[in-house]
This record gives sequence, structure tokens and C-alpha cells, in this order.
Amino acid sequence: MSNIGTTTATETLDASTTTAAAPAAGPTTTGTPPTLTTRPAALDAGYPADSVTGQTLDDLWHMARAVLDANWSHNHTVPSRTLYPHQWSWDAAFISIGLARVNPQRAWQDLRSLFLAQWPDGRVPHIVFDPNVAERDYFPGPTFWQVPRLRPGHSDGTGIVQPPAHAIAVWEIYRRSPDDRSLAELRWFYPRLVAAQDYLLTCRDAGRGGLASIVHPWESGLDNSPAWDAALSAVPADLGVLAGRQRHDNRVAAVAHRPTDEDYARFVALALAYRDGGYRDDDLPGRHDFVVECPTFNALLSAAERALAAIATVIGVDPGPHLARARRITQAIDERLWNPQTGMYHALDVRTGRLSPARCVSGLVPLILPDLPAPRAAALMAMAESARFGISAAMPVASYDRTADDFDPVRYWRGPVWININWLLCRGLRDHGRPAQAAQLRTAMLDLVRRSGYYEYFHPVTGDGVGSAAFSWTAALVLDLLADPEGLDEVTSDQAAAVTGR
Ligand code: DGY
Repeated sequence: MSNIGTTTATETLDASTTTAAAPAAGPTTTGTPPTLTTRPAALDAGYPADSVTGQTLDDLWHMARAVLDANWSHNHTVPSRTLYPHQWSWDAAFISIGLARVNPQRAWQDLRSLFLAQWPDGRVPHIVFDPNVAERDYFPGPTFWQVPRLRPGHSDGTGIVQPPAHAIAVWEIYRRSPDDRSLAELRWFYPRLVAAQDYLLTCRDAGRGGLASIVHPWESGLDNSPAWDAALSAVPADLGVLAGRQRHDNRVAAVAHRPTDEDYARFVALALAYRDGGYRDDDLPGRHDFVVECPTFNALLSAAERALAAIATVIGVDPGPHLARARRITQAIDERLWNPQTGMYHALDVRTGRLSPARCVSGLVPLILPDLPAPRAAALMAMAESARFGISAAMPVASYDRTADDFDPVRYWRGPVWININWLLCRGLRDHGRPAQAAQLRTAMLDLVRRSGYYEYFHPVTGDGVGSAAFSWTAALVLDLLADPEGLDEVTSDQAAAVTGR
């Protein structure tokens, strides 16, 4: 169980009291957490208290809010106080989606803080460093990355990216509270999001096939997934690179739950090579040892273009180019990453032209794309329901093929269940006409967290919490699931037309 207790039931100020102010030029620096809204009424109707923990869905809601409050830091939410004390890019997207349910102002503030570290070339760093956190409290910190101050007011960050989930988050926050402030936020974010997409679709199209490549496993967010094993075999695991460098993660988390030292040797070597090459993106396959097209990263890239189309419509910009781009990316995912032998998508090693043989959950995530060809969607749903991934009422989808010899139920992305991925799959199931399965998956996620706490990830057989406790995106996405009981919290028909292009 998470050790975060419930909060008092008195914090029930409505979000409308916090959204009147015009958006500031940047994040505010007040230390006072903004107020929170009430939970949705009748949350527990027809849903009994958990037989082991006695917790109701109401308890779950309050505890999720308490996790996010405890992890709020100045102008952003840390993923975890112990393991990840700065701001992470795709975490910020998922966290703000949950914050939008309880405090849209804080959701906007959180995402804005991330974009203050955006580079002039459009890239959004995978970590934004909090100057108040000591270098020894996270490795590798700012002195490792050596990113210069790129413009006045630029926050310190890394030089690598993470999956582009931010346009989806911006659209989700807006549609939860479509008021004047949110409209102003849409206008602030739109050009920045477009720049981020442009960077990925131009500078990172290393394979020249219309997809973005990642140049580091950390860019995938699925750091040690077996999806990278084949491509990483080209990178020497020279433990010498760790000499004089101290991993912080293994001091605050179980060693068996984290990537190995061999993984870290490769991670550090790749980051150093990119850094020492000036973070240049020209001739990536020639100058870089790891250049990979990831199905999840590119599915989010396509979904982001759909979200941008919706945003463009609201602020009076032509959504057409975004929809066209979304279709092209979806088509490229299908042409380049589909494996007819396995019936799912796989990571492509751009340097060798080979698909990874590993069946990883990242290959199911294109299910979030409404324009995925129907036979592909059907194949992915069949795979998700098969013994390899095992969607069931009892347990959400595992991060790796449960039948693989090297399936590891506790080691990070090599087997455990992750809530963000299942949240995406839940949307995919719903959008591809499987509302019953989406509802079942939603229940499985809620039951898992209610039983085990707001962990970073979960043992895919026992359901025990693994990794960091009190993890922000788990809490945030639980709020989103709780606030959307049917999983059918739909956009208006006009917005839907922009999003789906129909
Ligand atoms: C970590 O520190 O484990 C991160 O995943 C790298 O971004």
C-alpha cells in the first residue's frame, strides 16, 4: 500500500475560483498550492469497498489528490520525491491530464514550466532540472548534460526528448475547462507544440520514412524495454564509463527493479556521444550507435497531430495540415513497423533496417490511432487479449510478452504493468469499438491501485507495487479514470470532427 494518507474532506473549492486570472507569462512562483475541486458525485455507486483494504473509490480519489499535492514542487509536479526529483517530459503530460480533473490552473502551470526549457530548434527536453535539487540527488544531472542557456529565461534541461504526449494533454485540459483562460493557454501552447512536432518530423526523421527516430532508450520513456535489446547490442556495455559516476536510482529503489549497470553503461555512453557531438541531428545513422523508430513514440506523434487539429480549430487556424500529417504518420507506422509474422508492431533499428524480434507493449500502443486500418486494430486487440499480454478483469496488460524466456516481472519495462500505457490502451479499445473491454481494463487498473497503492509499476502476476511509491502519473491517471466512469467522456461533435477528420 502507498503510505500516502487521505486528505481532509474540506478542500472543496471550485476550480472556477482559480481560473479567472489571465495566464502569466511563465509559471508563477507562489508556494501556495492552488485549490482543488470536489470529486464527482456518486463515485461509488454500484462499486463496493475493496474486500482486502476496505477502500472505496472515494478513498482512491482523495489519496490520488494527496499524492499529487505531495509531489507538487513550486511550479511543477515531480514524478516521485525519491527517485525522480525534477520534472519529466512525458510524465508532465500524463500528470496534467489528471490535474485537469481537479485543478486546471495547476495543470496549465505544470506544462508551461516544461515548455520553458524548450530549445530554439523545437525539442522539448526529457527532464527539466529544478535548480533547488542538489546534483547528488539525481544522476545524470545538469552538469552531466551540459546544455547551454539557449535563450534568456531558459530553464536547465537535458538535450534528449521523450514521447510527444503534450498536445494530447493540452487538448484534454482545455476540453475539461473550456473557459477564457484555457483559450489563452491554447494560443500560448499551439506554436510551441507545432515547433516540437516539426523538430521530431524533420531533424529526427533519420530513416527518411516519415517517422521520428529516438537516439537513446530514455527518449522512449520505456528505458530498458526488450524492444531495444537488438539495437543496443551495437553499443558496448563498458562499465568503465560509470567509474567516478554514482547511480542515484539504486540508492533509493530496489536494484532488482531497476535497469542493470550494463544498461546504464550503454545509456551513459549514448548520452555522452550525443552531448559531445553537440546534440547534432544530421546524419544520425552515420554518427550515432542507436537510432530506432519506436511504435509508441510515433503513435503519440500521430495522435499529437490530431490533438493539434482540434486545438487549431478552436483558435481559428486551419486544422487540415495537422490531419494530413496524422494520416501520413499512421500510414508510415503501418508500412515500416508492422510485422505480419507476429501480428503486431515492432521497433525498427534504422541502422540495420531490421525490426526488433521482441514482442513489447509498445507495439500495441498504435491502437490509440483512430485511423489505424481495422484489421490491424483487430490484430492488436487479439494480441492484447492473448496469453502473451493477458488483458483480463484481474490484471492490466504487462509491458512485455509474459511467455518470453526473459520476461522479468519486476524489472522496470521488462514485464511489469504500467498505468500510463494501459490508460492509452483503454482509449484505443474504446475508440475501436470495444467499450466493454475498455471498461474491463479500467476496472482492472482501479482495482490494482486500490489494492496495492499508487506505485510506479506493478508485478504482473501478484499485482504488488514495484518501483517508487506515491508515483504521480499513477495518481493522475486514476483521477482521470475515476472522473470518467463510463470511459465515454466524449468531445462535442464539432471537436470530434476536427480530431477524427470525419
Ligand atoms: C531515469 O532516471 O530512470 C529516467 O527514466 C531517465 O529519464
